[in-house]
Amino acid sequence: MDNPFSLSGKAILVTGASSGIGRQTCISISKMGGRVIATGRNEERLNGTLSMLAGNDHKLVRAELTDTNDMEALSGAVQGLNGIVHCAGIGKYIPSKFYKKEDLRRFNEINYEAPILLTSILLRKKKIIDNSSIIFISSIMSETGITGGGLYAGTKGALVAITRVIALELAAKKIRVNCISPALVKTPLIDHDEFRKEMETNLEKHPLGLGYPVDIANCCVFMLSDASKWITGTNLIIDGGYSAQ
Ligand SMILES: NC(=O)c1ccc[n+]([C@@H]2O[C@H](COP(=O)([O-])OP(=O)(O)OC[C@H]3O[C@@H](n4cnc5c(N)ncnc54)[C@H](OP(=O)(O)O)[C@@H]3O)[C@@H](O)[C@H]2O)c1
Repeated sequence: MDNPFSLSGKAILVTGASSGIGRQTCISISKMGGRVIATGRNEERLNGTLSMLAGNDHKLVRAELTDTNDMEALSGAVQGLNGIVHCAGIGKYIPSKFYKKEDLRRFNEINYEAPILLTSILLRKKKIIDNSSIIFISSIMSETGITGGGLYAGTKGALVAITRVIALELAAKKIRVNCISPALVKTPLIDHDEFRKEMETNLEKHPLGLGYPVDIANCCVFMLSDASKWITGTNLIIDGGYSAQ
């Protein structure tokens, strides 16, 4: 029997592939038979990801996604994509009275503009084939508030909004476009001093405990596979029960 969750024969571009959710997504895609094009900034950690992949024929492309030239070079280095997982992103807690233009720009540049512009360039250059699946990693903060998370939440909410529009535009080509919105997942993004107290406080708010990168990667596999071929324009929340309360 055919496995509807198989990624065999599919070429998938993953941003943020050098760390956390992106790295695990590459690993999970490769285990399901997919071919990975992994991109990030840190070449050493990208090579670390490559060494963890099942099978061969995978590829690395180093790119700073806020740099237009790097983005053009990345789009030139790929072809025949069956899927994209936009994982690259940054996070920081900043109370509203301390918002600065530079912070707003920085959040927008990487969390919102980069995935949207990269998608647009790839579409324009016809690098994404029909029946593909595009995934934006948003956040539970697109739906629920947390003090200090405003600048981050704004970018993640914007992703959810534009996803619906791009999904409608690409439906004729059967290209599906969805967001995945995790609550707290144990990755380097949150596993440092600034977030440690926040993590401890938040632990009890996750009835199933904190998430692991593989919890998100498994949902990406589903969303990339033919098993999800009737799902588009959605925001799939994966939060260990965080928003059920
Ligand atoms: N962890 C969580 O609790 C959580 C919850 C909800 C949503 N998310 C979202 O999930 C995604 C992945 O997060 P994570 O926890 O896996 O974070 P992470 O471990 O810190 O990884 C972030 C990735 O983004 C890449 N990146 C950052 N800035 C970049 C830039 N300017 N150009 C190119 N790549 C850049 C990093 O590349 P280099 O390492 O090469 O610099 C790294 O691979 C993010 O969008 C985040 O907002 C995370």
